[in-house]
Amino acid sequence: MKTLLVTFTPRTGSHTARLVAHARQHIRGDIDLIDLARRPVAMLDTAAVDAYVKRNYGGQTLAADEAAALAVQDADVAKVLAADVLMLASPMHNFAMPGPLKAFLDGIIQKGRTWDADANGYRGLMTGRRALALFSSGGVYGDGGGDHYSPLARTLFGFMGYSEAEVISAQGTSRDAAQAVASAQAALDALLPRWYVDAV
Ligand SMILES: Cc1cc2nc3c(=O)[nH]c(=O)nc-3n(C[C@H](O)[C@H](O)[C@H](O)COP(=O)(O)O)c2cc1C
Repeated sequence: MKTLLVTFTPRTGSHTARLVAHARQHIRGDIDLIDLARRPVAMLDTAAVDAYVKRNYGGQTLAADEAAALAVQDADVAKVLAADVLMLASPMHNFAMPGPLKAFLDGIIQKGRTWDADANGYRGLMTGRRALALFSSGGVYGDGGGDHYSPLARTLFGFMGYSEAEVISAQGTSRDAAQAVASAQAALDALLPRWYVDAV
């Protein structure tokens, strides 16, 4: 059983980091960690997106400099493909996931790797695996909108075909951080033992 933990928790004293520490207590098997707060952001800039389209849509082989433009994204995809569980964790920034986490996702949602398309339409390739997005937010969001993190995470996990996808959040940290974190930790306690019950 392998878990890929992708974190972006840049704030000293991060509430989200406490959720990650709690989640880690439930994880069984190997953990691979990508700490997005401690590496440069790999964007789909001109060189990267041109190489991606040439290879993943055009089926062409890349020259060395073109392959280099996708090196970070390709290394990330390899880690995602090797993982039974993908776990993302970050605070909410400006009503959604912070840019570095979105850039990570832009890098791994690759045609022919995590999803594909044919005459029948789009097809996620991550079936049989699980994904979790873990975030904390200062505000509390009900069904009235404003939380763009949860629906985007669910859409992207679904697009990649994850068989089970969950979002757990500690909402309301600006009002009562201890209570928000405790309720998210309880949600982790309710979910993760089942995910790792057969883990070796
Ligand atoms: C740059 C920035 C943007 C934020 N944007 C939002 C927001 O849009 N909605 C919200 O509810 N909280 C927002 N917050 C508050 C954080 O989401 C909240 O304090 C969260 O618990 C921080 O998590 P952390 O302790 O792991 O950094 C923002 C905080 C920062 C620093």
